[in-house]
Amino acid sequence: MDIKHKRNFCIIAHIDHGKSTLADRFIEKARLVTSRGPMGTQLLDNMDIEKERGITIKSQAVTIPYTAADGQEYELNLVDTPGHVDFTYEVSRAISSCEGALLLIDASQGVEAQTLANLYLAMEHNLEVIPVINKIDLPSADIPACLHQIDHDLGLDPDMTCFVSAKTGEGVDSLYEAIVKNIPAPEGSDDNSLKALIFDSHYDPYRGVIVHCRLFSGTLKTGDEIKFMHSDAVYKVEDCGIFQLQLVTKGELKAGDVGYFIAGIKTISDIRVGDTVTGIKNPASEPLAGFKEVKPVVFSSIYPVDSNDYEELQEAIERLKLNDASLVYEKDNSAALGFGFRCGFLGMLHLEVIQERIEREFDLSIVFTSPSVRYIVHMKNGETLYIDNPLEYPEVMRIDYSEEPYIQANIITPTQYVGPIISLCLEKRGVQSAMNYLDEKRVELVYEMPLAEVLFDFYDRLKSISRGYASFDYEVIGYKKTDLVRLDILVNSEPVDALSQLVFKDNAQSRGRMVCERLKDEIPRQQFKIAIQGAIGGNIISRETISAYRKDVTAKCYGGDISRKRKLLEKQKEGKKRMKMVGNVEIPQQAFLAVLKTN
Ligand code: GTP
Repeated sequence: MDIKHKRNFCIIAHIDHGKSTLADRFIEKARLVTSRGPMGTQLLDNMDIEKERGITIKSQAVTIPYTAADGQEYELNLVDTPGHVDFTYEVSRAISSCEGALLLIDASQGVEAQTLANLYLAMEHNLEVIPVINKIDLPSADIPACLHQIDHDLGLDPDMTCFVSAKTGEGVDSLYEAIVKNIPAPEGSDDNSLKALIFDSHYDPYRGVIVHCRLFSGTLKTGDEIKFMHSDAVYKVEDCGIFQLQLVTKGELKAGDVGYFIAGIKTISDIRVGDTVTGIKNPASEPLAGFKEVKPVVFSSIYPVDSNDYEELQEAIERLKLNDASLVYEKDNSAALGFGFRCGFLGMLHLEVIQERIEREFDLSIVFTSPSVRYIVHMKNGETLYIDNPLEYPEVMRIDYSEEPYIQANIITPTQYVGPIISLCLEKRGVQSAMNYLDEKRVELVYEMPLAEVLFDFYDRLKSISRGYASFDYEVIGYKKTDLVRLDILVNSEPVDALSQLVFKDNAQSRGRMVCERLKDEIPRQQFKIAIQGAIGGNIISRETISAYRKDVTAKCYGGDISRKRKLLEKQKEGKKRMKMVGNVEIPQQAFLAVLKTN
């Protein structure tokens, strides 16, 4: 197909405004599937976790053939993107492979924090943005208010707006026409050197590594020899084609196309998302601009519950990294937990997703240590240390002062929730830098807050005090001075290094108490007394005791039902597999997770 008749676009929006649902409608209209998938599931959300949580984590691509009203045939490449603030990175990758974006706005919610954040991203990449009001079928839809916001808050032309219901399919036809009319065709010539931007990759157990790319110039054919410009690695293309829910072999990709290729790639580290692929014949002299390097903001170590699983864990992390370039990791070890990996994540949701993917996709039982942000520690001898692992925190005597990362938080909320939100921000050590009335019903609050305070339960609490109406977006703005201490947790006087955490001094006492209480609930009674203590330096600041108890799980089974007894014993054995020995105390995996949640 002529490049003039190709269109590459993505759908961007605040979380839950209906991107995945709209993508489903597009695919259905294109008759790629004859009927819907299982009731209520989304066609582009492949991962189990995505279906269960109803959120999109990974960007997906799909090629849709379309015949316009005037009979002209087009090829539309749609890239679905996630909406949660942790996955902005995925959004920017999708954006780099497109010329246009549909900015979706929920007709009953209006413009929210990530609507703005995603619009800025699209503008940074010079995309043509079409505003789309979705959910027009809802009785609570307020279209005039949305149009006003599109004009006033977003600075877009309200006359360009399309009106759709992704649920019923209403308006989707006109949206197609708007796409081919308003989104520019890609530029680039098939005859120039090959330049393909890698925007994603994944591992298929049968076919190996599958690279997702957008061709900016040149052609890529099965049999071609290609080179990854960053790693200089050379491979021969075994197959290439496009995404139509499954991979569809084409044998050739041309300038402007979005598709995949397979090249028998064995060394996973050869591929880097954001790298440029070029040909061995007629190579490009310069790579494409690529993406901004992602910076993880929260760090935690992962250990296998069973130390024998270490190698499998390593393989699992390598494979996940292939599909999730934002995950960073290095080897780590702990006295209590043995060998593992120190990992960096984009946020707590990202951490939870990785944890679930390791457990489900690789069937491994793992333990995470308390998550931490990265602190800067200035030493008295003039040295500067970057510390994200509490175990590396130096002796207090040698420290001059420490700094912690701060964010600027933008919160958009209906006016009636302003009071409780301000109290929440104050509790989280926030300092207000602005409060703007967007209109008579909505306020934008801008706060500077320590990242460590926001990472954990801030988002959930914001949602619950505003009944789900407040929206939130943040960016890291730099470091500010802080007063830091290391809280250690001792179990029967043995420090459990994996439970140590760096905390703001004024919060240490309450944090210590909370961790001990949680552990008391989670560690089962054993044949001896267990003391759980929180300590700073040598000082014990909190204590809980678990009294001795011989657990007889079969006690309840009076009578001689042997099979029931056996079942209970089996179950107990299962439970033990998920325990970690620390000194002479067995700590269940659940206890580590519980501490993680108390943050
Ligand atoms: P993330 O992928 O998590 O960012 O969410 P999303 O933007 O993809 O939203 P999704 O498509 O999952 O839709 C969120 C909710 O809105 C779902 O319950 C949909 O059924 C519902 N929804 C989407 N579009 C419409 C619509 O046009 N009308 C109505 N009534 N509901 C809709």
